[in-house]
Amino acid sequence: MIDSFVEREQSRLLTELKEFLEIPSISALPAHAGDCRRAAEWLSAHLRYLGCPVVKIVEGKGHPVVWAESPHIPGRPTLLIYGHYDVQPPDPLDEWTTPPFSPTIRNDKLYARGAADDKGQVFCLLKAYEAVLGPNRQPPLNVHFIFEGEEECGGHVIFDLLHTEPERTRADAALVCDMSYYAPGWPAVYTALRGLCYAEISVRTLQRDLHSGTYGGVAPNALETLVRILSQLKAGNGEIHVPGLYEAVEPPTKLELDTWKKLPFDSEQFLTEEVTARELTGLTDRTVYERVWALPTLEIHGIRGGFIGEGAKTVIPAQATAKVSLRLVPGQKFADVGRALQLAVKNVAPEWADVDVTLLHGGDPVQVDVNHPAFDILNEAFESVEGRRAVQVRAGGSIPIVPELGLEGAPVILTGIGLPDDGLHSPNEKLTLSQLWKGIGIFARFFELFAEKGGNGTDSASPESKRKAAAR
Ligand code: BES
Ligand code: MN
Repeated sequence: MIDSFVEREQSRLLTELKEFLEIPSISALPAHAGDCRRAAEWLSAHLRYLGCPVVKIVEGKGHPVVWAESPHIPGRPTLLIYGHYDVQPPDPLDEWTTPPFSPTIRNDKLYARGAADDKGQVFCLLKAYEAVLGPNRQPPLNVHFIFEGEEECGGHVIFDLLHTEPERTRADAALVCDMSYYAPGWPAVYTALRGLCYAEISVRTLQRDLHSGTYGGVAPNALETLVRILSQLKAGNGEIHVPGLYEAVEPPTKLELDTWKKLPFDSEQFLTEEVTARELTGLTDRTVYERVWALPTLEIHGIRGGFIGEGAKTVIPAQATAKVSLRLVPGQKFADVGRALQLAVKNVAPEWADVDVTLLHGGDPVQVDVNHPAFDILNEAFESVEGRRAVQVRAGGSIPIVPELGLEGAPVILTGIGLPDDGLHSPNEKLTLSQLWKGIGIFARFFELFAEKGGNGTDSASPESKRKAAAR
């Protein structure tokens, strides 16, 4: 029945997905606020089309959250589905083969910003839900949908909502489909997500820009000062010089290290095709997986200051700013690391410069116990479609709201249908269509199995349990 749904409806589904991807819902750029709202409205209309009796656009200080509830079926388990409709800025634009918001299929791949991260994956779950709707448009289980529009920019609307209404997270499990397979044919579930601490370091050394001939040799240059500070935060061997940073890190377990060692890994292909570099850098005495999954990082994302126009201008800049972030791993806390970064910068900043560290946003790392029965159910679904159970890996990336989703012991299933070469945040982001079609089958099967055995016998969305949740 599910296979025939995909076969029958394929061209309609592609039309719908392209429509969603055409909306440039770039949350970081204020000029696209209207597009973010249009994406939220597209989702709301779609959830109504799927028969959800409750569909709301929840407003806050930023891009709205979309909330929906399937028709309530007493006694059946409840699944909370999280996703995000916002996307990263598409630049550099001239590196896209076809424009980022004109979704184009080449060679069974759909190219567009958001194709994999996360609109295409949100779409996959919506269609899996559509596939299991019975004749009366009734699903076999209760589903609560929560989609945010600020995942990529570190907004607070979903945090504020779940802070004032934590009962919205009450469910038998939460499902987050915003990651990828380990490799083609190898589905994955994630045992950890890194956290993030994003900051801006600003330096002022002068009241105004100066002539570099008249004052060069005596006047403190803000860009130079900033670059000196940055270069002292991380050594050439990859070691980060932020006090106490490594002390809180919980090292991976022996079981994890053993599991990672057994994963098929082609280091040459990883280096040249995925990373596209000539050499890997960082803490070279640690394995690649330890470095991208289990250790903190510090990256410089951009530096602003001085003259960057065409031609030459001989100026000593008075001011400069850098955007940096640290990735955090289990054991670390975003708030503690933020303070430690501020201290580290203060320690190396010269006293004649005004140096400020502004924390822009962040999130705590997450650890997931994948021994919960919900993971067996998902594995059964993977096995039925893909012929293989999920491998247990970690994610290097972050999804800040995830720590708030699994309250009261409900497991948060972190998984996805992407492939490692999807190019998230890069030019020519894509979703492989065969992954989408398989994914619809996998999650439809998961919904059916979860409907049968995903609950604990109590109806987690009943008024009684809602009262209990509200009283927490
Ligand atoms: N889907 C990614 C997170 C991700 C990336 C998970 C790679 C697993 C592997 C997510 O949309 C994302 O990019 N998040 C941002 C969050 C940040 C802006 C707060 C990230 O990780 O940079
Ligand atoms: Mn994402």
